[in-house]
Amino acid sequence: MERLQIESLDLKARGIAQRDGKSVLVDGALPGEVVAVTTLKGKASHEVARLREIVRASNQRVEPRCPHFGVCGGCSMQHLEPTAQVAVKQRILEETFSRIGSLEPQQILPALHGPAWHYRHRARLAVRALPNRGVIIGFRQRNSSYVADIQSCPVLPLRVSKMIAPLHGLVEGLSRPDRVPQIEVAVGDTSVALVLRHLTTLTPQDKQRLRCFGEQHRIQWWVQEGGPASAKPLDPTEIQSLTYRLPEFDLTLPFRPTDFTQVNPYINKALVSRAVDLLAPGSEDRVLDLFCGLGNFTLALARRAQHVVGIEFSAPLLTRAYQAAEQHGLHDRVQFIAEDLFNKNREWLAALGRFNRVLIDPPREGAEAIAHALAQMPPSERPLRIVYVSCNPTTLARDAAILTHKGGYRLRQAGVVNMFPHTAHVESIAVLE
Ligand SMILES: C[S@@+](CC[C@H](N)C(=O)[O-])C[C@H]1O[C@@H](n2cnc3c(N)ncnc32)[C@H](O)[C@@H]1O
Repeated sequence: MERLQIESLDLKARGIAQRDGKSVLVDGALPGEVVAVTTLKGKASHEVARLREIVRASNQRVEPRCPHFGVCGGCSMQHLEPTAQVAVKQRILEETFSRIGSLEPQQILPALHGPAWHYRHRARLAVRALPNRGVIIGFRQRNSSYVADIQSCPVLPLRVSKMIAPLHGLVEGLSRPDRVPQIEVAVGDTSVALVLRHLTTLTPQDKQRLRCFGEQHRIQWWVQEGGPASAKPLDPTEIQSLTYRLPEFDLTLPFRPTDFTQVNPYINKALVSRAVDLLAPGSEDRVLDLFCGLGNFTLALARRAQHVVGIEFSAPLLTRAYQAAEQHGLHDRVQFIAEDLFNKNREWLAALGRFNRVLIDPPREGAEAIAHALAQMPPSERPLRIVYVSCNPTTLARDAAILTHKGGYRLRQAGVVNMFPHTAHVESIAVLE
């Protein structure tokens, strides 16, 4: 055993110490702590060590609230006080900008905060039926592809958390529990949907069991035989559409349980407001909303801008976006286009017409092709301001570097959006001008 002083946390919430010029990663250790470890693996770039004892604990260490902490891979930062978690994420964001993009934001935006618990309105619960252990339901285990069996989850809404224990019994009672790999949870403002993924046909008794459970727990069942598009209500006549509100913009957005929606509706409200404020579209402005999904930012922007074009590759999401635009009388101010944005170039972008504001909210892979296309436009045709919402600091830093070093943009502001408290995910927002 040897002693190490932990200096920071990495993107997987592992403590980082330095030994002989090399990083040592220690799962479960926090910055400022002195820990005793044994070395597990040595790699050229770093070493991985096992925490044996906390010799001097951080004053920001707290007792994890979840009984599954340490086994479940969902929340790896629960042992760190929530405001310290945000500070760690802010530091990771700044370090990533510096390391990958040689960039420093001119101003750090104050972090966006929401409730620390019960915030998660979407989840994918893995289900396994094991011959000698019965049914297991939960998230992937930490550092493993096995499923951690959970009975409750404090980041899910309380009523959903309370359903996890009875869900075990429900799946056990189905005719083929071994053919149910997953149950997806989608929570709207007024109703909850569960999507049962099943690999064999459900029997009438199975359906009856699902109905009883649905009535008892006041949820709607969807069933999914194939990919996400095959999901359909178990009883179509009884379905109440899932929706979420953006009150500041007087918008109600309908969605299906397998659609992409932001996981944390409390933070989403604040995020949409901040993105619109930072982009600051006026009534003369034409705005481009890239990776627009079901119009989360598009419709809010359309309340302020002259015209907004939303682009995204999922046609069903765009149908939902257009319907919501019609319901709110915004259809004359928006246009939606289905395109794969990973393979676009400057010519394609220029053919869309002139835009003076752009919002980009890509998946984890980022928006490299779009960043190159924007950077290659003649300066007089470039959008004045870009707001980039990101769920991956690494690709954000790469794309911001393209826009600044090749396109002449400046990284004016950046900050953390605490979309996923207790997890190691870093969501952020950046402004380029
Ligand atoms: C992080 S989500 C953002 C969605 C939306 N802005 C919102 O706030 O709800 C990323 C979106 O990018 C879409 N997407 C993923 N890959 C894409 C691609 N190659 N081309 C276009 N859209 C893509 C997804 O369908 C998803 O809706």
